[in-house]
Amino acid sequence: MLEGMDPRPVGMFDSGVGGLSILREFRRLAPRERTVYFADTAYFPYGPRDPGEVRKRAFAITRRLVEADAKLIVVACNTASAAAVADLRQLFDIPFVGMVPAVKPAARASRSGRVAILATPGTFDGDLYTSVVEEFGRGTAIDRVVGHDLAELVERGETDTPAAREAVRAALAGTVANGADIVVLGCTHYEFLEPAIAAEFPGVTVLGTGEPVAKRACALLAELGLEAPPDAQGALDLIISGNREAFLETLPGLGFAPREAAEAQP
Ligand code: DGL
Repeated sequence: MLEGMDPRPVGMFDSGVGGLSILREFRRLAPRERTVYFADTAYFPYGPRDPGEVRKRAFAITRRLVEADAKLIVVACNTASAAAVADLRQLFDIPFVGMVPAVKPAARASRSGRVAILATPGTFDGDLYTSVVEEFGRGTAIDRVVGHDLAELVERGETDTPAAREAVRAALAGTVANGADIVVLGCTHYEFLEPAIAAEFPGVTVLGTGEPVAKRACALLAELGLEAPPDAQGALDLIISGNREAFLETLPGLGFAPREAAEAQP
């Protein structure tokens, strides 16, 4: 395959709309790439599920994305990355980009020495999280904050409503009062709550992983000679395991134009 001549799509998946926060950045950086996005809404939420169950879903979705001819897969979900990315790399002969909460940049940027990681129970329970905390979190006080019901709010399209504001306030007020000056968004759904968090806690820096993960995907495509041809037109296909209409209705509220939703045929 010649460099910059691979027209196959990039696969991405999440339990629902969360991974669209990665997709948004990826499309901005690589507008010529086609993307197949698998939203596993029939199994939403992943966060409280047994890791074995999330792993099974990750395998099934990967098989489906390989069938759709994906050249690289972005696991656009911290919970699924925690449960499955190591095994996916062993089992499938295709490059993967996984995610882990941004502990390293948070520890570096904190002036108070205390940071809050906002994530799902599945992400906190995984070895990946433990290893980044061991490697990069030494000397920093790290508050684990489980985002109860936050992914559910975003999945319903509630990102800056009074209910969303109330939920982020309830989740983060304690850690911010204790001195946390950085909040790490350790779940792709929470990226959409960034404006609500910033408005509720103006003195706090909110760190997400949308852009770094999208950049990593672009770098890997370039490194492996998998970039789309120069004249390629980017496109988006959606595969939705649950209710398609409900999913499409949520898209405009998350900043995806209706045109893009209409573009997305099964
Ligand atoms: N978006 C997923 C993540 O990044 C989790 C949401 C869910 O609980 O399904 O962890």
